[in-house]
Parts: sequence; C-alpha cells; structure tokens
Amino acid sequence: MKKASKQQNAKRQEKMKLSGKILFSALILLAVLRMTVSFAVADNNNRSLPGVTVTDKHPNGCVDCHNAFGDKDYRLKMELAKIEGHSEMDTIVKNLPQDCMKCHKAESSIGYLGDIAHRDHYSNPPKNVFIIVYKGDCLNCHGIDPESGKTTLKDGPKNW
Ligand code: HEC
Ligand code: HEC
Ligand code: HEC
Repeated sequence: MKKASKQQNAKRQEKMKLSGKILFSALILLAVLRMTVSFAVADNNNRSLPGVTVTDKHPNGCVDCHNAFGDKDYRLKMELAKIEGHSEMDTIVKNLPQDCMKCHKAESSIGYLGDIAHRDHYSNPPKNVFIIVYKGDCLNCHGIDPESGKTTLKDGPKNW
C-alpha cells in the first residue's frame, strides 16, 4: 500500500516537473515573440521619411545640400566648373533644378537631369556619401503630400 502511494507521488512529481518545463518554455517563447513584435513596431516608428515622419531638413532640395559650409564649398556652380565643356549656364539658371532642365531635358543628348541626379547619388553605394550620410532617401529631392499622394520635385533659388 505504502509502496504504491510512494510510486504515485513520484509520478505526480515527474508530471509537475514536466508541466513546469513546458510552462517555462512557453514563457520564453512568448517573451521572444513580444520582443520581435515590439522591435517591428519600433522600426516602423523610426522610419525616417523627410517631410512625412520627420522634419524635412532639405525642403529646397539641391541647394540645401550643395551649399558652402565653412571652408567646404559644395555649390553646384563649383561642381559644374570642373566639367570640361560645360555651357555657360549662369544667365539661364535662376532656380534649381528646374532651370538646369532647360538644357538637360528628357531625351536630351547631353543627358536628362533625372538620370544624372539618380546616377550621381546612387552609384558606388559603399562609398557614396549621399547614401551613407543622407540614407539615400528619395525624399531629399522629391516631395510627397501624404494627403493627396501627389509627388513634387523640390526646388530653390540658386545660391551663388
Ligand atoms: C540631401 C543632400 C543632397 C541633395 C538634396 C542633393 N544632393 Fe547632390 N550630392 C549630395 C552628395 C552627398 C553628393 C556626393 C555623392 C558621392 O559621394 O559621390 C552629391 C553629388 C552630386 C553630384 C556629383 C558631383 C559632386 O558634387 O560630387 C551632382 C552633379 C549633384 N549631386 C547634383 C544634385 C542636384 C542637381 C540635386 C537636386 C536635384 C542634388 N544634387 C540634390 C547630396 C545632395
Ligand atoms: C545652357 C545649357 C545647360 C544648362 C542650363 C545646364 N547644363 Fe549641364 N551640361 C550642359 C552641356 C552642354 C553638358 C555636356 C558637357 C560635355 O559633355 O562636355 C552638360 C553636362 C553636365 C553634367 C555632366 C554630365 C554627365 O553625364 O556627367 C552635369 C552633372 C551637369 N551638366 C549638371 C548640370 C546642372 C546641375 C545644371 C543646373 C545647375 C546644369 N547642368 C545646367 C549644358 C547645360
Ligand atoms: C538627388 C536628387 C534626387 C534623388 C535623391 C532622387 N531623385 Fe528622382 N528625380 C530627380 C530629378 C532632378 C528628376 C527629374 C525631374 C523631372 O523630370 O521633372 C527626377 C525624376 C524622377 C522620376 C521621373 C522620371 C524618371 O526618371 O522616371 C521618378 C519616377 C523618380 N525621379 C523617382 C525617384 C526615386 C524612386 C528615388 C529614390 C530611390 C529618387 N527618384 C531619388 C532627382 C532625384
């Protein structure tokens, strides 16, 4: 009699241990799932979309980055001066990038500005400063109105 109840006791303890283990594993699984979910939510909240989820630091597009900062001069006038054979454009260009497109139209043999801009800001990704520093975000140059869904091309007066 005594022996039988001892055996039963031992069995019960085994069962309890097992269910304890199952509960423990379930808790860990739950914790991991919750972490994954909260990471996903955090990622969404952190997605930086200039003008949509975060303040747009470059509302005027080209001229806001291609400017003179201290002893560094990134103005496009300086960049164009380095291009051999670049046309005199000062009298034509008052607003960027719209006026650049007076010559750099789509289908133009000297190159469409859209293609030139995309190439210069996305080529050689591991070394491209636009990708590394500015996250390669389209919304640095393009704008979007979240209400209407309409996109725009940012622009600003020339800075020289
Ligand atoms: C958010 C900042 C930013 C904006 C906006 C921007 N650029 Fe740039 N641009 C850069 C950076 C950074 C580079 C250097 C990329 C690299 O490492 O090769 C660059 C490179 C260039 C180059 C190649 C010559 C050079 O200076 O290295 C041209 C041409 C150029 N940009 C034109 C434009 C035009 C035109 C616009 C507007 C339509 C524009 N960019 C808007 C940051 C910007
Ligand atoms: C009056 C016409 C004219 C205007 C305005 C003009 N360009 Fe150009 N651009 C040219 C010509 C012509 C070439 C070709 C030069 C060559 O290949 O020798 C050129 C070449 C370039 C190139 C090199 C092309 C390449 O494939 O790498 C860049 C970059 C460029 N222009 C950017 C600009 C930007 C930015 C503006 C506005 C600030 C601008 N251009 C305004 C006529 C113009
Ligand atoms: C450095 C500035 C700059 C960046 C960054 C940029 N664009 Fe553009 N994009 C331009 C310019 C300039 C044009 C020419 C606009 C026009 O024709 O009115 C253009 C034109 C376009 C066009 C219409 C013509 C075409 O080439 O099909 C599309 C679509 C476009 N961009 C999509 C994008 C997307 C998507 C990204 C991000 C992956 C991006 N752009 C990033 C400057 C930029």
